[in-house]
Amino acid sequence: MPGAIYAEGLVKTFGDVRALDGVDLDVPEGTVLGLLGPNGAGKTTAVRCLTTLLTPDSGKATVAGIDVLKHPNEVRRSIGLSGQFAAVDEYLTGRENLQMVGQLYQMKAKEAKERAGELLDRFNLADAADRPSKTYSGGMRRRLDLAAALVVSPPVMFMDEPTTGLDPRNRQGLWEVIQELVAGGTTLLLTTQYLEEADHLAHDICVVDHGRVIARGTSDQLKARTGGERVEVVVHDRGHIATASEVLRGFGKGEVAVAEHTRKMTVPVTGGAKLLAEVIRELDARGIEIDDIGLRRPTLDDVFISLTGHAAELPDAGADAEAEAGADAGPHADAGPHAGPGSGADTGSQRKKEADK
Ligand SMILES: Nc1ncnc2c1ncn2[C@@H]1O[C@H](COP(=O)(O)OP(=O)(O)OP(=O)(O)O)[C@@H](O)[C@H]1O
Ligand SMILES: [Mg+2]
Repeated sequence: MPGAIYAEGLVKTFGDVRALDGVDLDVPEGTVLGLLGPNGAGKTTAVRCLTTLLTPDSGKATVAGIDVLKHPNEVRRSIGLSGQFAAVDEYLTGRENLQMVGQLYQMKAKEAKERAGELLDRFNLADAADRPSKTYSGGMRRRLDLAAALVVSPPVMFMDEPTTGLDPRNRQGLWEVIQELVAGGTTLLLTTQYLEEADHLAHDICVVDHGRVIARGTSDQLKARTGGERVEVVVHDRGHIATASEVLRGFGKGEVAVAEHTRKMTVPVTGGAKLLAEVIRELDARGIEIDDIGLRRPTLDDVFISLTGHAAELPDAGADAEAEAGADAGPHADAGPHAGPGSGADTGSQRKKEADK
């Protein structure tokens, strides 16, 4: 039986751009799927197709068992959406925005008011609740938008980069809210650029790039393919980069990446803190002064390097990098031929406001 969110062969093109190039998804009820990918990968397009805001060129999709193309209105009644760009009414206060959403969903005025109050507390917006939301900071708007998506508790939720722009405390707070929702049976598709976030929240992860799923699996499976942890060292003296690299090569399980301008070297390792201590001793024995050293988890960039065989590239350069990496794709990969466009900045035209629910 297909899951609460199901898609098969979704294709969506915008002129020459194949924003979705045959995406398959299957999210079992009560679980979280993390859709992970760089700018322009197709994450928002996937969310918009699944939430009926866009019509795919081909493919099929069901949400909560309802056909997205045939019965969009029914789908809309079963889902909640928090878009990438906050869709709050700027002239209403935070409280009014939330009450309005409740009333749109046919809550009684009293109920809508109570729910608004609860959510304002929950998202640390109580102090600003009665100010027009146009006076809110970016992170406050983001939180108000998320709160709006949670006024009713639909069985299926979509959140497009919910924590982008949130400070660490609010990010943590949102993670807790999400975990509670899912414990209550909600199915969630969330997009993110942070492996750490997907790691924390998602049962399964799909890595997308150029409109295709290039890998899928649990976070442990993906991390294992990315080579687990990294040791990262910043040496004090540029003249020590070569020696330090040699030391790291001796301890590492792969290539040493060197960033000359920041004097930073990174190498995948296994062995955790014990190994880190050995690296420090060896660098010390060779008289290399260290500004910073630590163990860190793989980043999205690391996943990309391991999936595509080379570092993420700028958007246009990546498009033609066909054929190199397919052979390296592991058991969960669907296809592997693209380089990721890294952290290219959004263009203004891309910053389209999500339509209201
Ligand atoms: N309405 C549109 N018109 C033209 N091109 C579009 C439109 N929407 C998306 N695209 C293009 O489709 C591709 C996928 O965009 P999408 O917004 O889905 O990416 P994303 O993974 O959400 O990226 P980000 O991390 O920057 O939010 C991009 O190349 C984008 O420029
Ligand atoms: Mg997006």
